Amino acid sequence: MDGGPGDNRGSGEAASPLRHFLDLADHDTATLRRMLDLGVRCKRGEIADKPLAGKTVALIFEKPSTRTRVSFEVGIRQLGGDVVVLSGKDSQLGRGESPADTARVLSRYVDAIMLRTDKASKLQELVAHATVPVINGLTDLSHPCQLMADVMTFEEHRGPIAGQVVAWTGDGNNVARSFIQAAARLNFTLRVATPPELSPPAQLVDWARAEGARIEVTADVVSAVRGARCVVTDTWVSMSDEKEGGPTSRHNQLAPYQLNAALLRHAAPDAIVMHCLPAHRGEEITDEVIDGPQSVVFDEAENRLHAQKGVLLWALGIG
Ligand code: CP
Ligand code: NVA
Repeated sequence: MDGGPGDNRGSGEAASPLRHFLDLADHDTATLRRMLDLGVRCKRGEIADKPLAGKTVALIFEKPSTRTRVSFEVGIRQLGGDVVVLSGKDSQLGRGESPADTARVLSRYVDAIMLRTDKASKLQELVAHATVPVINGLTDLSHPCQLMADVMTFEEHRGPIAGQVVAWTGDGNNVARSFIQAAARLNFTLRVATPPELSPPAQLVDWARAEGARIEVTADVVSAVRGARCVVTDTWVSMSDEKEGGPTSRHNQLAPYQLNAALLRHAAPDAIVMHCLPAHRGEEITDEVIDGPQSVVFDEAENRLHAQKGVLLWALGIG
């Protein structure tokens, strides 16, 4: 189901007792709340010492990363666990060993696997053959760990996200798709402002609406942002888009969706600004906004550490 929710699920996953974290759509509200609560308790220092003692997690990166790599690695160590980091380049996965065989082998060494990759099909294959929990560290289709940090960040600054209005401006990319799933599961209104040709898949939006979500998709960025409590954007050229004949046409398409001070004035006066980072300053967001008083982007980056601890503890059945 290309573009729909649950694209990262392996075919055998429904029957699996393993606690994979592949997409927000796979989990009910209570389960996501449980993970978020665990993350908040980790941040407050309320979790027992070294809950991951004796556990090892493999982190596999087939795409670059700063936050995901460091926040997982540091977070696991802080919880008393150990990590092994593999890159596509220096592992056999990068030379064509299958995700299935990689999963079979790593499952015999480690207690959980996190994968950042391009195609959701690779994650699906890994999940179908892993006998330990798998965490999605970003695919071309979604970035659920980011959304756990984003929800935590919103709630720290503005209280419960349920019933609030969040506006997305820019590319309808993997992070936008995860926002749609989050809106469905955590009951906030999401307005997505994007050029029609870069809209998130209609199938995903239809799914979210059928789940009761309030999702608007529009090319009118001012109407999307009007009165929102949170305005979010992301790069105009995601890692998976870099091969697509250069960024020039995307920049032209997306220029009207830049998150700048003039646009932010249409949001609620106390709106916060989020961006998953890395930012391309002067493109999707201006210095004035990202460095301004409404920006919480570095709290958001910090919360990757805490939110992922909650995901890990849940996935490993601890806490
Ligand atoms: N936001 C995020 O996932 O950042 P990295 O690409 O640096 O991991
Ligand atoms: N949409 C971006 C997110 C990076 C964390 C990308 O996929 O490159």
